[in-house]
This record gives sequence, C-alpha cells and structure tokens, in this order.
Amino acid sequence: MVIPPMRETASGIRAVVRCDELGTAPYSDDPAGLFRPYLGAGHAATLDRIAAWMTEAGMTARIDAAGNILGRYEGQSPDAPALMIGSHVDSVRDAGRYDGMLGVMLGIEAVAWFAERRRRFPFAIEVIGFGDEEGSRFPVSMLATRAVAGTLAGQDLDLLDADGTSLATALEIFGLDVARLDHAARPREDVLAYVEAHIEQGPVLEAEDRALGVVSAIAAQFRFRATVCGVAGHAGTMAMRLRRDALAAAAEMVLAIERIGGAGTDDLVATVGRMEVRPGVPNVVPGAVEFSIDIRAGTGAVRDRAAEAVRAALAGIAGARQVTLDLELQQDLKATPCDPGLTRLMEQAVQHAMGIAPRTLVSGAGHDAMVMAGLAPMSMLFIRCAGGISHNPAEAVRVEDADLALRAMTDFIERFDARAAASAQQGTQ
Ligand code: GLV
Ligand code: MN
Ligand code: MN
Repeated sequence: MVIPPMRETASGIRAVVRCDELGTAPYSDDPAGLFRPYLGAGHAATLDRIAAWMTEAGMTARIDAAGNILGRYEGQSPDAPALMIGSHVDSVRDAGRYDGMLGVMLGIEAVAWFAERRRRFPFAIEVIGFGDEEGSRFPVSMLATRAVAGTLAGQDLDLLDADGTSLATALEIFGLDVARLDHAARPREDVLAYVEAHIEQGPVLEAEDRALGVVSAIAAQFRFRATVCGVAGHAGTMAMRLRRDALAAAAEMVLAIERIGGAGTDDLVATVGRMEVRPGVPNVVPGAVEFSIDIRAGTGAVRDRAAEAVRAALAGIAGARQVTLDLELQQDLKATPCDPGLTRLMEQAVQHAMGIAPRTLVSGAGHDAMVMAGLAPMSMLFIRCAGGISHNPAEAVRVEDADLALRAMTDFIERFDARAAASAQQGTQ
C-alpha cells in the first residue's frame, strides 16, 4: 500500500498515517509488533501523543480516572452537553494498527475539520480513546468503557492480569487514584450521543465493493473460563489406559466447541483463543488446563442455546474422561441494537459521501459502543478493511476509504446539529 504524504489539514490520510506511527515502540509494549495492553508503558506513551494531536486540533485534552483520553471541543456555550466520538486505543497481542485507533484518529480529524472552519455547535464534541476494550490484560473486556458508562463494579478492581497485578494496583502504577475511579463515570445529561467509526473486521464491504457501511446492531457475547483438572503423572511410566490427561480432554472439548459454533446460523461463532497447560513440560502428563471460550451470535437466544450445548458437551467429555470441569462465566454482553434515529442520520451521511444507497450490517466484533449504548443513543460507521482481516498485523485500510469516512462523520455531525435545531424549533412552536 502506498500512502500519500500526510496532509497538514484534516484528512483521512492523516488519520491513517497517525495510526501507523502508533503501531510501533514506544507506543507498543512489544518491540517486535503491536501490543498495547491497558495501563502499560505503550498506553502511557500513546496518550501523550494523542493529547498533543487533540490540542493541535483545537481541543482541551485530559486523562480521566480510568485512563481514558478525552479531548473536548467546546460548543457555542461552555458546559454544553457533548456529542461523543470515539473508540479504543488498546490492542490485542500482535495486533493490526487500525482496530480501535482509526476511530479515535477520525474523531480528532472531524474536530480539526470544524475547527479549521471556525465552526461551533450548540453542543460540545468530545473525542474519547478508551483504555480497555479488548480485555487483553485482564480477563474481562471493556473495563475502561464501563467506567465511563458507570457500570464498572467494585469487584472489577480485584481482577488480576497474567502477572498477578490487580486492576487497582495497575491504576495506581499508572498514576491514577483508585479512590477517584467513579469520577470517570459520565452523567447521562452530559452525553447527547455516542458515535464510533471502526474498521469492519470482516469481508462484507470489500466483497460488495463498498468503502463504508452502517452498523444496525452488535452481536451478543459470552466469555467463559474453563478449568479442566485431571491427574499429572510421569510421561514414561503412566500407562495410557490409566491416564486422566487434562490436555487430551481439553483438546476434545475444543473440537466440540468448534462443532457447535459451526452448526448454527452463520452469525453464531465459538472460539477457544487462549489455553494454559499445567505443569506444561514434555515429560509430564498434563494435570490441569485452563482455556477461554468466546461465543457470539446476532441474537441472545442463539448465543444462549449454543452456550447450553457447549456446557452439555463439555460435561459429557469430562465425565467420560474422568476429569473435573469448572466453567466460569466471565463476561455477558447483550446484543446491542444501534439507535434507529442516529442510524438513519448515519445512512444519509454515508449515502451523501458515497453517492450510493448504504449497506447496513450486524457487527460480530464487540465495540465500546455496546457499553456506551447504556449511557446514550449510539451509532456506528464501518470502514472496509483488506480481506476482512483484523486482530492480525496484516490489517490494512485504504486512505481513500478513510477520507470518505471522515466525510461521512462530518456530514453526520452536521445532520445531528440540524436535527437538534429542528426539534428545538418544534418545541418552541
Ligand atoms: C474486540 O475486538 C472483540 O470483538 O473481542
Ligand atoms: Mn479488537
Ligand atoms: Mn476494536
């Protein structure tokens, strides 16, 4: 991909080039690729860089009590409620550069676009870069988003990362005051709406030769932790027929999960993405295995039926192999419809930017928007990505598509303003 030189003024190109800059050290904790877990050193360096870009674009930047970065572009009067635009700045391990970050960079570009034109609205615009959406440090995702939506629970502070550091300690090490964590929560009256631009992370837009799409809803998700315990033993002396091998049982479970995920509707998916084997040495029959299970579907009913089928299949395998099984539900994200009124505005904005009727699609990937929907009406814009590949360093977007996305976002904001003005007018009649 040949990227044209970065422009000095607001542009999708600048958004892409900035994502590329943030894709390596010091903005990554992994010198060999991109890994930016919540509250790590790469996260801290990234916030400094983003704060400078927000300031340059005409915003006042701050880091909230949960480690989210916020840039505020004031409205015509101070303290006006805000239209919030954002996505996340954290990444999975060995990530692509655009998942999450492109939405934050496009938010900055949208503000820069209006600031260059000295345009203010009756509402403020706030650009937010959430610190944790992926859940790649702690076992649960969207911690920082939940802090803003006011749905973080006290027990979340005790969650441990792989090194045994609790969320509370990680916040303190990052320089944040845990006692003030609830200050990250935003009152409903502060936030008029939440809008997120994100790469599609799937192949539909590319297959249909479309740069942009509009999200109608986000799929329901479950995340479980499965623990299988057998009996560890000597790999040379333990007869095969006497073994209670936790890894062999877990392997059969993984295949059952794959089969159940593949046997439902197209939008049902089930994944085992992490596995830890104990003691994890070549000459010991594995005594215990812990693995993750991620189940998603367009509706809660389909997801729940699949989860029940997984439970039953795993219990059957555990019984037959004489191992114990513990399934802990770690995360339950409901299917989340986008706000119909905002979705109509986004469809009009995409139609205006592209000159063709927009495509709407359901997102199988989870997004900050799922949590923000509990705080304010939300809408999402999707941007085509190469081969639908994401959570992979090969993730790629076209700069022309990012330019179109910026056009759609600024047009959406204009329409949002016009709609608010029309309803205020009606209210005075
Ligand atoms: C986030 O990327 C998710 O869908 O898990
Ligand atoms: Mn992701
Ligand atoms: Mn994402």
